[in-house]
Amino acid sequence: MDGNLLNDIDKVVDADRAHVWHHLIQHQPFQTGAPRIIVEGKGMRVWDQHGKEHIDAVSGGVWTVNVGYGRERIANAIRDQLIKLPYFAGSAGSIPGALFSEKLISKMPGMSRVYFTNSGSEANEKAFKMVRQIAHKRYGGKKYKILYRERDYHGSTIGTMSAGGQDERNAQYGPFAPGFVRVPHCLEYRAQWDLTGEEYGIAAANAIEEVILAEGPDTVGALCLEPVTAGGGVITPPEGYWPRVQEICRKYDILLHIDEVVCGVGRTGTHWFGYQHYGVEPDFVTMAKGVASGYAAIACCVTNEKVFDMFKDDIEDPLNYFRDISTFGGCTAGPAAALENVAIIEEEGLLENTTQMGDYMMDQLNALADKHAVIGQVRGKGLFLGAELVSDRASKEPVPEKQAQAVVADCMAQGTIIGVTNRSIPGFNNTLCFSPALISTKDDIDQIVASVDEALGRVFG
Ligand SMILES: Cc1ncc(COP(=O)(O)O)c(C=O)c1O
Repeated sequence: MDGNLLNDIDKVVDADRAHVWHHLIQHQPFQTGAPRIIVEGKGMRVWDQHGKEHIDAVSGGVWTVNVGYGRERIANAIRDQLIKLPYFAGSAGSIPGALFSEKLISKMPGMSRVYFTNSGSEANEKAFKMVRQIAHKRYGGKKYKILYRERDYHGSTIGTMSAGGQDERNAQYGPFAPGFVRVPHCLEYRAQWDLTGEEYGIAAANAIEEVILAEGPDTVGALCLEPVTAGGGVITPPEGYWPRVQEICRKYDILLHIDEVVCGVGRTGTHWFGYQHYGVEPDFVTMAKGVASGYAAIACCVTNEKVFDMFKDDIEDPLNYFRDISTFGGCTAGPAAALENVAIIEEEGLLENTTQMGDYMMDQLNALADKHAVIGQVRGKGLFLGAELVSDRASKEPVPEKQAQAVVADCMAQGTIIGVTNRSIPGFNNTLCFSPALISTKDDIDQIVASVDEALGRVFG
């Protein structure tokens, strides 16, 4: 780490402690202890204010830095673009915006239009607004309801929290916006139907149909789902689930909105997007975190041409276009960075690496489950994995949140950063989360899994 920085680091820590309101964290402990400052990153590793090295098994904490730290070509592309043109409102186009849209759409057969925003929450809000406007334009305002699923998360704004399936995360932030309706989750490990495999998947999808019928199909405009639920417990869908979901949406003329904020742009391996594993044909796809691996803020709400056409069919009507702006959706650093990010994934074969390393990590975590009875189930796709911890395998009693957090703290002390579902589902904040960068090697994964092994041994004996 830079010598001057080390000399000044106490000042940095003092300034942080005095003035920064950190995300997602209770600040009482900072009255005596120092907040963590991450100073530098390279590849899979980051260094804190003490110069301590950590392997980052969660890509910047929240599934973001997919191509790893220290990518000079992304930084250079941003720099060059900022000097040429940093910003212009999105009512005009930009060179990187146009080129990245073309590149992105080439990875998404069936989709055609990219609406730029600057966060996952905002991208989801855009899709919700489009659904509402379509309801007004096409259905006399009636088909306005948006279905969302228990355990899914779509963002931190009041609008997206209205579509939030995590009751503990939502607690104390209501009242929420009307017109959002919950459907059951599809986690077979926490079964709601006495079925298994494909039959379970079909039943979980049929439960969505029951909600649609109860609400009235002519009132339901869209269904918003994560392809693999992230913060709600890393939930991979059961066999049979997605084909039936698609069928139900078509049957009732319901637009399908896939939230790829976590899964998108390679995280799940083989395919660019999570939904592509399941043959789904969405109407909206939203994405953020991995789009530029956190090198610049960029998010996208991507639609198919059917949706886009509904916003341009009558030029005489003054309301007949999407009357929306995202100021920072016009920042050119985002698409400039995203173009390089995609090029890196292509040139380094990172979709393939993600599949191979994801399979390897899944095997290693399952081997850990043979050793530690506290691991109830390992789930995931690509380099997006979770291990649900239970105090008893037969009853599947979740371990208390404190114990799951103790595993995370132990790993951190060892220099390994892992995640855990936190304050999301009441009583079920018990899934360890892993999402190392797509550049992970076997050695990296061995190091991560060895830390978890040690931590589980110390916390649970
Ligand atoms: C699935 C999903 N959707 C949306 C969001 C919100 O993204 P942002 O924090 O960029 O607003 C998140 C953030 O974690 C997420 O996991």
